[in-house]
Amino acid sequence: MKLNLFEKLITDNPVRASIQRHIEGPMLKKMGGQKAYPLSLEIGCGAGVGAQVIAEQFGAKKVIATDVDPEQIERAKKNLMPELNEKIEFKVEDAMALDEPDEKFDAVFSFGVLHHMEDWRKAVKEISRVLKKGGEFFFEEPFRPFLRNFLVRTLTDHPKGGEFVFEEFKNELKKNNIDMVNMKLIKDIAIFCVGRKS
Ligand SMILES: C[S@@+](CC[C@H](N)C(=O)[O-])C[C@H]1O[C@@H](n2cnc3c(N)ncnc32)[C@H](O)[C@@H]1O
Repeated sequence: MKLNLFEKLITDNPVRASIQRHIEGPMLKKMGGQKAYPLSLEIGCGAGVGAQVIAEQFGAKKVIATDVDPEQIERAKKNLMPELNEKIEFKVEDAMALDEPDEKFDAVFSFGVLHHMEDWRKAVKEISRVLKKGGEFFFEEPFRPFLRNFLVRTLTDHPKGGEFVFEEFKNELKKNNIDMVNMKLIKDIAIFCVGRKS
């Protein structure tokens, strides 16, 4: 589901970019189990900062960065630093039906995307399908109580199908052969996590 104007403003700005570059990127990299992830996929790349972080901090030789919204892909292309032109390819793709072959990627990244899905379970199934065995899934997501908060409900648009709590998420990963190998839980509000496909 596409973002509304308020969500675009809070995700595409220098403060968010700096947090992704200097806090989330290094933290998730430390949580992962491999030195490098040569072929990486990002779902819901938004304005494209995450793809640049993956290219610079996760040892990716190639990043396929995807988003369901063509406007976001155009924005990400405009924001791309010229020196990363060869490394990052942007594509319009729905993460619930990825146009990528089975077992192709060393890592899949989702920075705050699954809660925008009409059916987040479909996306988890797709992520598992395109990950190599031993490949890692890096993600950060808010949980249902956060999304149901009055202020969040008033200012943002999120589909019901993107809501989950920790146990539901953990079970879905297990069902799709992804083991949680490292995580940081922020109470029942959000999670930063790395899963590995077995
Ligand atoms: C909250 S933004 C996060 C953007 C970026 N990852 C970041 O951290 O700044 C969620 C993004 O997911 C995209 N999105 C929503 N549903 C999607 C889907 N089914 N497939 C792929 N991308 C989707 C939206 O267009 C939006 O760019």
